[in-house]
Amino acid sequence: MAVSAVQNSTQALAESLGVDLSRVPEHVAVIMDGNGRWAKAKGFARLLGHREGYRALRGVLLAASELGVRYLTVYAFSAENWRRPKDEVMGLMKLIETAAREELRVMHQNNVRVHVSGRISEVPDGLRKALTDGMATTATNTGITFTLAINYGGRAEIVDAVKSIVAAGLSPEDVTEETIQAHLYNPGHPDPDLMVRTAGEMRWSNFLIWQSAYTELVVTDVTWPDFKPQHFLEAVETFQRRTRKFGAVVE
Ligand code: IPE
Ligand code: IPE
Ligand code: MG
Repeated sequence: MAVSAVQNSTQALAESLGVDLSRVPEHVAVIMDGNGRWAKAKGFARLLGHREGYRALRGVLLAASELGVRYLTVYAFSAENWRRPKDEVMGLMKLIETAAREELRVMHQNNVRVHVSGRISEVPDGLRKALTDGMATTATNTGITFTLAINYGGRAEIVDAVKSIVAAGLSPEDVTEETIQAHLYNPGHPDPDLMVRTAGEMRWSNFLIWQSAYTELVVTDVTWPDFKPQHFLEAVETFQRRTRKFGAVVE
């Protein structure tokens, strides 16, 4: 009798959508975009869109974890998002802080390991405390590594890596790609295999620009608050139909 590899409802849904459970991407990055457009279309304030976006993230984290993804990295606030109106920025900081605190118990129960990426020293004290508490509580968990990119910029990350290389006193001939990798915010994370962007824009917006050199990009028109686990699994299925070549010839 054939033994099914399916272990949970996410895997069952994934199989029904054509996902090969034996070739799940190890690291998925997500540019969660379109909260503002989602709210505008409904006549709501932008912050309401961000709140609904948080609900969407909860579903996607669970789906990624059940599918067997090892790393999920999400863009929650970019280094350039400070350019937005002060009310929106402060509302977002508060929302992320509340969400981080509310979700911690469930994430810990689900064996999720929380990491952050970005210039965390520059975010409000309450949010920084929530994030450091989350990381400390979940540090030894062995399930999915969930990384929140906050006050994150890809160029800023490279600048910070160069600064720490210079501070370490390395000489030019000792600097390789591996050296730069080792000085990124999360040096132990593999490069993303798949980057998903919602709400239709075909750009990186300064997200993981070093790490995504050979990442497969999948863009969907669905706005982030409407993005369901099914959409996530569809993106994985699209990813699995790509041929990754890394510059080589692949027959
Ligand atoms: C993404 O949604 C969330 C953040 C950038 C914090 P947006 O707020 O960028 O939504 P749009 O692009 O205005 O629709
Ligand atoms: C990228 O989205 C940042 C996040 C999703 C947090 P933006 O909405 O800030 O990107 P642009 O401005 O459209 O490039
Ligand atoms: Mg946007």
